Amino acid sequence: MSTVLVARDGALAVVTVNRPDKLNALDHATIAELTATFVALGADVEVRAIVLTGAGEKAFIAGADVLGLSKQGVLDGKANARHGQALTLAIESAPKPVIAAINGFALGGGLEMALACDLRYASPNAKLGQPEVGLGIIPGYGGTQRLPRLIGVGKALELVMTGDPVTAEDALRIGLVNGVFPQAELLASVKTVAQRIVARGRNAVALSKQAIRRGIHLPLAEGLELEADLFGIVSSTDEMREGTRAFLEKRKPNWT
Ligand code: COA
Repeated sequence: MSTVLVARDGALAVVTVNRPDKLNALDHATIAELTATFVALGADVEVRAIVLTGAGEKAFIAGADVLGLSKQGVLDGKANARHGQALTLAIESAPKPVIAAINGFALGGGLEMALACDLRYASPNAKLGQPEVGLGIIPGYGGTQRLPRLIGVGKALELVMTGDPVTAEDALRIGLVNGVFPQAELLASVKTVAQRIVARGRNAVALSKQAIRRGIHLPLAEGLELEADLFGIVSSTDEMREGTRAFLEKRKPNWT
């Protein structure tokens, strides 16, 4: 049985990791299926935004499957890290917004999945952390790289070296999540955020994501050049003509 569920809601796709009896822990097969799912949804023009969540009321994703990790050696340890990193890269590089609805534990690989998403919203019961050092390993699906880029080196070192999780409220305070919604309303509230993005210009959203995602790795001068290049590209679109004309004509844009 598949451990990844995909449900369509108009232009939105909701991806649910479905191993609730294991708190949605990511085994090798689930990671492969998720990667293929994100690549396919990224290429599907009918899908304008993707929401990622976990099955059940307790966990978003409680990490990589510790059973698999317990058996790894040097070579397959590195390969396992690459396998998980390929998933987080597929999420991060999807040419459309990906939003995490963190409905409970987001630990280890679960937090790393959320870090690869563009936006993160949590329910009050969520606990977010990188507990790997307690297992004698380090984060391997991008956590050591994306966490400091998101919340700063000091807080990232604290989370990674203590292994202690933070509450949803603390996650909001340190910028680890964008908002907190009551658990019963989490998915609906996240879909509302996604719909607000979907109502904007599709190319403008995709290119602004690309400008930020690629630009963060560049020196400022090169980042500004990238921004200008992408601004040039977006200026060639019908979308730009319609968006600006609609503003001047005091009406809503009619995107085609
Ligand atoms: N890998 C494999 N199995 C996991 C798992 C993981 N990361 N997280 C939870 N599970 C399994 C448990 O082994 C248990 O399975 P079982 O019923 O067959 O024994 C089931 O999910 C329920 O978890 P349980 O520990 O009983 O729930 P809890 O409410 O007592 O504790 C957690 C919840 C999240 C605190 C606890 O499960 C935990 O610490 N998980 C590991 C988190 C982690 O270290 N993740 C990073 C891995 S790199």
